[in-house]
Amino acid sequence: METTVPARKKITFSGIQPTGVFTLGNYLGAVKNWGPLQDEYRCIYSIVDLHAITVRQDAKALREQALRCYALVMAAGIDPEKSILFYQSHVPAHAELSWALGCHTQFGELSRMTQFKDKSAKHADNINAGLFTYPVLMAADILLYQTDLVPVGDDQKQHVELARDIAGRFNGVYGKTFVVPEPYIAKAGARIKSLTDPTVKMSKSDPNPNSFITILDPPETILKKCKRAVTDSDMQVRYGEGKDGINNLMTIYSVITGKAFDAIEAEFEGKGYGDFKTAVGEAVAEELRPVQEKFRQLMEAPDYLKECYTRGAEQAAALAERTLAKVYKKLGFVAKG
Ligand code: TYM
Repeated sequence: METTVPARKKITFSGIQPTGVFTLGNYLGAVKNWGPLQDEYRCIYSIVDLHAITVRQDAKALREQALRCYALVMAAGIDPEKSILFYQSHVPAHAELSWALGCHTQFGELSRMTQFKDKSAKHADNINAGLFTYPVLMAADILLYQTDLVPVGDDQKQHVELARDIAGRFNGVYGKTFVVPEPYIAKAGARIKSLTDPTVKMSKSDPNPNSFITILDPPETILKKCKRAVTDSDMQVRYGEGKDGINNLMTIYSVITGKAFDAIEAEFEGKGYGDFKTAVGEAVAEELRPVQEKFRQLMEAPDYLKECYTRGAEQAAALAERTLAKVYKKLGFVAKG
């Protein structure tokens, strides 16, 4: 009798830092894309709290934000029955593999990371070693789960490429140990820009709260922020060069409504920016309404959340420890008795 081995479901891994409430950029560039992968892939998602401490945090605020972040990711469509959703600090293998991979990563490679350069310019008084080795920990996150696909926004592409380089190098020296992962970057929405300076990405660490929309902003705040968004003096809703502000709003509107740019241009032909900005604000508020509602329900069920993240960590640890044991063996460590 012929026996068929079922094909292994491909694995997706991604993470989000629990620093502040996440923004429309995090949502459109990454988290919104995680849910639809749940049926086709074995999805593993993490609230990456170890990454968050490369910048000084207030312990109480971090703990609260991390709980909210977990509930928000669930509210945005991650079902803990279908995906593994866990806190990075609950699975020690992340820090352990990070050390082993760090010994296979060059100083020069880490020095070239643009996020390190940006962050060390922003936090000149705290250029700590963790900030420098952050991409190694991220590589460990990804490689521990034999990940095939990493859905991220455009700003994380360089880090995923480094993870690929580290995996390839390790496999070259020790024999096939890791799957070499592919970045998965949405065609639209992978780089949502600041509303007040559309030449830079929308970021929750921006000191100007009008520059970003958070997932929990009430509808009137969303509308106000969209109306105030920086545009240009051309007064035509048209995608093009020198129109960063309008390009950004069109991208947001397009990702949410599914309308193509030419359809949006036709919709607002002869209308002013005011009408367009109102439409964008309303579309965003409508998109976020069910997420906010689900979030509020989840925050009223702390025992359920705890049950979910406890189970998530157990499931993640079981997979992670398998890879770590393989790595330790290849490196020549004596096996535990
Ligand atoms: P973080 O927490 O900064 O952001 C989470 C996700 O949101 C995306 N993103 C954006 N996408 C579009 N437009 C924007 N303005 C925008 N801002 C953020 C990010 O690209 C990211 O996908 N290092 C990662 C977290 C991480 C991770 C990992 C990701 C740690 N380990 C392993 C994937 C795999 C970070 O700081 O993301």
